[in-house]
Amino acid sequence: MPALQWGGRFTRVPDGELLAFGSSLEEDLVLAPFDVACSFAHVETLLGGGIITSAEATALSAALRLVDDEIASGTFAVYARERCAEDVHGAIDARVRELAGAAGQSLHAGRSRNDQVATTLLLYVRDRALRGELRSRDIAATLVARAREELDAGTLLAGCTHRQPAQPVLLAFVLAAWSEPFLRSMHRFAAVAQTASAACPLGSGALAGSTLPLDRERGARVLGFTGPSRNALDAIGSRDAALDLAHGSVRVLIDASRIAEELIAWSTPAYGYVCLDDGAATGSSLMPQKRNPDPLELVRAHAAKLLGGYTGAMATLCGLAPSYQRDLQETKAQVIAIVEDALATLDAFARTLQGIAFVPERMEQGALEGYTIATDVADALIAAGTSARAAHAMVGAAVARAERERRALDEGDLASLADQAGTGEIRAPLDARASVLAKRTRGSTAPDDVREQIVSLESELASAPEAPA
Ligand code: ARG
Repeated sequence: MPALQWGGRFTRVPDGELLAFGSSLEEDLVLAPFDVACSFAHVETLLGGGIITSAEATALSAALRLVDDEIASGTFAVYARERCAEDVHGAIDARVRELAGAAGQSLHAGRSRNDQVATTLLLYVRDRALRGELRSRDIAATLVARAREELDAGTLLAGCTHRQPAQPVLLAFVLAAWSEPFLRSMHRFAAVAQTASAACPLGSGALAGSTLPLDRERGARVLGFTGPSRNALDAIGSRDAALDLAHGSVRVLIDASRIAEELIAWSTPAYGYVCLDDGAATGSSLMPQKRNPDPLELVRAHAAKLLGGYTGAMATLCGLAPSYQRDLQETKAQVIAIVEDALATLDAFARTLQGIAFVPERMEQGALEGYTIATDVADALIAAGTSARAAHAMVGAAVARAERERRALDEGDLASLADQAGTGEIRAPLDARASVLAKRTRGSTAPDDVREQIVSLESELASAPEAPA
């Protein structure tokens, strides 16, 4: 017989299959430590309201400490499964009733699983948002450190749009660009943690509050919330912070998937721009020569999968009347699945990034290919007084000519362009390094600007909070 927290008005035991269908135990187990924290706080709200004696509070707290140990050692999960618990909250309550003697019967006073689930989930969201923040920061820091190294090395490559060579850029500039979304993610996760720490649902009861004088301020304080939530009905029915966390988790993976895709392309022989560490590549069971970028491919696939999960989680809220509905159990399960998967995927991505070696010779070989300095030549004509449209057309024709003659743009082209445009002598960069050095706008790929970007990124990273103890 399963351990249920209800049944007084029932004349017959519930259908076992349907109870199993409705159980959220497996997906809830990850919430167990947070439920214990929430239950400790509830003991405080009961004590603060004079609803239990301090002897009862001591007995309940001692039992909760034991449960905490059982969770850490893994025996609690075995216990909860054996009892066919409906969810982790009921299982913890049942275990406390076993461990705390008579006092155990009072733990659930004034509490519903509705405010308990809402509060526990917020504690989980806060914890995982902080992990997401740290992981995003670590990835950003790795990329910024690599950018600094590559700035010193001065490595150049053809920056692409539409996967076609566009303009020469510094590798350091590209790496700094890659770090930016992870800094944004870091801030996004921090904001989620803050949202999840604002209003504490504990003491909202099932939906309408309680006739018991629960000390909600005390409970909220113990759990590190700013204060108790304002409206009980909203507090038990809202899943905003959980969905924000799911959103942040999917967003950061989408960003990771875009870099993964670039690295996958760069690791092909056609590019040859990067070499994946043996630890981050895999072989083929048939083709002995293969080195496949599987972890990066899987980062890409996890992003896509979790985006689907996120859509599913959001969909469970569509048209759901604003209160607790059992559907929210599925929202919760989907959010947890997304978040756990995203954090593991971010870890894999971070490990793979550590093992990437750039091949500067290959990058630099291709930096001028595809007439990547054509825009700079057009800019030189514009600076000398030619209209943008005329400059574009003239340089386009010069590129076509050079292409037919299988050569790069050269001094001769500059002279004839100046002649056509009637500008007098023009000077334009004709190699990739001169091109990046000639950039003068803020945020450009010019080495001095990239140095400033890196300094700014480093200081933003340094001001991020440290890992919680
Ligand atoms: N397992 C449920 C959940 O996670 C617990 C809440 C049940 N509440 C209720 N009123 N039946 O959402």
